[in-house]
Amino acid sequence: MKNVVGILSAAAMLLGVSLAFQAAAATETVITESSFGCMHTGTKIRKTYIRHADPAKLKEAVRIFENKVEGVEYPEGTILQLVPNEVMVKAAKKDFPNTNGWEFFLLDVSATGTKIAARGEKAGNPGGTCLGCHQAGAKFDYVCEKDHGCAPIPVTDEQILAAQGKDPRCTAQ
Ligand code: HEC
Repeated sequence: MKNVVGILSAAAMLLGVSLAFQAAAATETVITESSFGCMHTGTKIRKTYIRHADPAKLKEAVRIFENKVEGVEYPEGTILQLVPNEVMVKAAKKDFPNTNGWEFFLLDVSATGTKIAARGEKAGNPGGTCLGCHQAGAKFDYVCEKDHGCAPIPVTDEQILAAQGKDPRCTAQ
């Protein structure tokens, strides 16, 4: 009988530990391929789409971006997107200490969905690493826009808007 009680309480303890672990994990920003879809969801400020699962935090992210607020961090979970295949996601600072928590993504997008081609602090495109340009915007929490000090991208606004309109994951196009 003593053994049975011992086993039961050990099992209860394990269950408690695993529930606590799940609760901790649920608050972290976990990004998989299914986190991405048609880029036209979210709030568009100037040319950038901003998303956050929590409406209050979305509002805060929009406020920072729209007003070009200096020295303020975007809430964890913020997703920024300018073109269909490049995304930056604000995760935990401990996971991405060199980018103040931002994880950069290069995606392969098609009508059937999204594949992650590269992710992390070292991800890049043919123009260089994402961080290589975006770190110049550190005062604006790594957001570049046109006037935050980043090296310019070799495409016009018209080309960016055209690329946004051609996201193959948006069926309503
Ligand atoms: C050659 C420099 C350069 C590289 C490389 C680069 N970016 Fe950018 N990025 C910029 C500039 C400049 C802008 C602002 C463009 C504008 O607003 O017209 C920008 C804009 C963005 C935006 C919109 C928010 C903002 O910062 O203005 C996102 C999101 C973004 N880039 C993600 C990425 C990702 C992800 C990569 C890597 C796969 C990447 N970028 C690579 C320079 C770069």
